[in-house]
Amino acid sequence: MAELLSIILAAGEGTRMKSAMPKVLHPVGGLPVVSHVLRTVQGFGSKVAVVVGPGHEAVEAAVTRFEAMAHISRQEQRLGTAHAVQQARAAYETAPGHVLVLYADTPLVTAETISSIVAKLDDGADMVVVGFRPGDPTGYGRLLTEGDRVRAIREHKDATEAERQIGLCNSGIIGFRGDALRGVIDRIGNENAKGEYYLTDAVELATGDGRRVDFIEADAAELVGVDNREKLSEAEATFQQFKRKEIMAAGVTLRDPNSVWFSWDTEIGRDVTIFPNVVFGPGVKIADNVEIRAFCDIEDAVIGEGSSIGPFARIRGGAELGPDVHLGNFVEVKKSKIGAGTKAGHLSYLGDAEIGTKTNIGAGTITCNYDGVNKDKTIIGDNVFIGSNASLVAPVNIGAGAYTASGSVITQDVPADALALGRARQENKPGYASKLRDRALAKKAAKGK
Ligand code: UD1
Repeated sequence: MAELLSIILAAGEGTRMKSAMPKVLHPVGGLPVVSHVLRTVQGFGSKVAVVVGPGHEAVEAAVTRFEAMAHISRQEQRLGTAHAVQQARAAYETAPGHVLVLYADTPLVTAETISSIVAKLDDGADMVVVGFRPGDPTGYGRLLTEGDRVRAIREHKDATEAERQIGLCNSGIIGFRGDALRGVIDRIGNENAKGEYYLTDAVELATGDGRRVDFIEADAAELVGVDNREKLSEAEATFQQFKRKEIMAAGVTLRDPNSVWFSWDTEIGRDVTIFPNVVFGPGVKIADNVEIRAFCDIEDAVIGEGSSIGPFARIRGGAELGPDVHLGNFVEVKKSKIGAGTKAGHLSYLGDAEIGTKTNIGAGTITCNYDGVNKDKTIIGDNVFIGSNASLVAPVNIGAGAYTASGSVITQDVPADALALGRARQENKPGYASKLRDRALAKKAAKGK
């Protein structure tokens, strides 16, 4: 396969998003839309050049975070897609192989589509245009085809009524042999309805030079361009459909696929069962044979084999759960390590904790990890029994095999195998309850007078 350079256009203003954030940084599946495109082309070992708009330092930072070697250039004035490509001249001038032009706001283009473009270029095409059939073609460039070749792309504003009847539109993704791009890009003018330098004019120039311009047709859902919030939600819905299929194909049971939401990097092992209404934020890895019951919210967490989670559990902040851990309803775990076979069945907050193996965390246990300024650690050993309704005031260390009595506020370390009682001793006063009742009734009678 020839070497690839991908030029990703990201200089659009994105005004229709009505957002303080550049449109290409809005997330789909927990990842900025521009990073989806980077990720897809990275899969081909492609070099990357990104063209950003003025003042888009945040886009530059997001790109270099994901692709440190990216060549970044700025388009100071937004003069059209061909002008945007020209800003990446330093990258394409010497590109030895094929050059792909993609849009940063079209995040769901698939590896299959890229493969088809590359295959046609390898087969001798000079350019390959990715066409699609949107529900409403208004506004898109139309592909003027002859057999399996493209003669020209006509922008909507410049098209005749007859050309506007064509349903096959330009997605904006175009592959070039490097020499074909270099042969046409500087000959593109701006005599058109918008007064812009259209990259789409490259097609007519190339065919005029006797070059071969092919097209492929891809699914409209994969080519959705995120330029307003409605399109963003469409992209999210499509992404989730792709991801649910991928996850199920890998051996995961989703009881109600449409109510389970994944992130781009969610990794789930085999024979995992996920009940309805579960949301996975970024950074989740789940081993085999795990059960996740309804209404859990999990992000930045590793869950060990055979664990059972939820319903209504929240796990986050770099949590690491060993194998066979059980977290039940209304348990929150933040930035904690939990050892094999440990259970926290009900109503707990475990934050900044390290908990050993086969420990039982009673209902209502709270790690008091924050004093308003600092976060401190709670360390609990193996085979510990934390009685219900405990407040564990960090920093605190509870030794292996220790017991803490229910209702305790534990402020000091507990040695291994000790019983810790951190509560007032119970006192019973025989017959005192009826005395209290009589006193209350007398008070009520006095008020009634
Ligand atoms: C473009 C295509 C059109 C296609 C449509 C698909 C051209 C002339 N037209 O139209 O055939 O059907 O996309 O969505 O290419 N951009 C820059 N700098 C610029 C202009 C655009 O970086 O000066 C980037 C934008 O950020 C965006 C992409 O190029 O990612 C497309 O720009 P947009 O203005 O949406 O193109 P359209 O006019 O819709």
